[in-house]
Amino acid sequence: MSIFVVMNFPKKLENKLKERNENNSLRSLKTSSKLVDFSSNDYLGFAKSNAIFDNTHQFLVNKGMKQNGATGSRLLSGNHLLYSQVESFLSEFHQSESATIFNSGYDANIGLFSCIPQRGDIILYDEFIHASIRDGIQLSNAKSFKFKHNDLFHLEEIIQRSKNINVSIYVITESVFSMDGDTPDLTLISEICKKYNAFLIVDEAHAVGVFKEGLVQKLNLQNAVFARIITFGKALGCHGAAILGSTTLQTYLVNFARSFIYTTGLPHHSLATVQMAYNELRESSDLNQIAKLTDNIYHFRKEIKKLDLDFISSYSAIHCCVISGNKNVKLISEKLHQKGFEVKAILSPTVPENKERLRFCLHSYNSSKQISEVLHLLSIFVKQS
Ligand SMILES: Cc1ncc(COP(=O)(O)O)c(C=O)c1O
Repeated sequence: MSIFVVMNFPKKLENKLKERNENNSLRSLKTSSKLVDFSSNDYLGFAKSNAIFDNTHQFLVNKGMKQNGATGSRLLSGNHLLYSQVESFLSEFHQSESATIFNSGYDANIGLFSCIPQRGDIILYDEFIHASIRDGIQLSNAKSFKFKHNDLFHLEEIIQRSKNINVSIYVITESVFSMDGDTPDLTLISEICKKYNAFLIVDEAHAVGVFKEGLVQKLNLQNAVFARIITFGKALGCHGAAILGSTTLQTYLVNFARSFIYTTGLPHHSLATVQMAYNELRESSDLNQIAKLTDNIYHFRKEIKKLDLDFISSYSAIHCCVISGNKNVKLISEKLHQKGFEVKAILSPTVPENKERLRFCLHSYNSSKQISEVLHLLSIFVKQS
């Protein structure tokens, strides 16, 4: 006998679900498969690393840190010693005056964008910016305008129109776009920001690890950027995020970022895992996971050129083949699934209508044979569609 009482569900909400279903865009949860992985963000295989797992355990045992939870917000009882140790490591590794850890990249973006730009200020953001940044912007009192994706002429045009002595302008972009895999000209953006006294903020979620310290540092732009968001759930294979910037920025965030203040801190285990993942990243040599991933990216690019497949140009671990229509892209993803490959279909409304896509995430642990095979199948399925 069932002990659950079936509750009424509001009609309006039911209709929204119905609409999603009709548009082929209804989301549902699936447990991760055992197929060849072209979909996870575990670019370097760190999430499955036995060494990182064992080192984390040993580190906690050696330090006598036998505690399960942080016990409170960082401003109350939750700011254990590991926080300052990991933050100080991060600021050194990423050449930043400070690093402030948040519980996730989503929390970091919500906290940062809701508290930094003030009423009367202006936020200029790339039209393809991540949902967490959009949500943060929505919580802010500043005016916001989008510029065309990676179009720096458009950005400069809007800045010129927005210029006003009493207004702070914030320019927001990603160093690797999560749904396209491409990269803006960060050097040029930083020059534009310098010219107009605008504050540049770069989300490095998909660049850190793949490009070791991230693209901002690769281009030696760390002093030209007001804030960088780094996340630990992608190439670092664990969980959490940090905002890099000045010590004054850190003090401001600790005082005003609500997603930092009104939440329980991360447990010791999470921070120890972040530290062990970074140790792995720092100490890896030429034959390491980054080199393997780089070889795979090179091989993937070579194969799509050979097969004349239509992909968004990318040098990162994310490669997207635009296949218009939710139904079409889902069908091809399912066909690849049946052949043993996990490649996710990215549907509208996550991406604009007619820009639906198959998103391939490459990893250090993919083999060149797997890459050639999946692309060969894709070229057949695209021709059939
Ligand atoms: C560009 C970007 N920023 C932030 C986030 C959020 O990070 P997290 O998964 O740590 O919440 C993501 C994750 O999807 C992302 O792609």
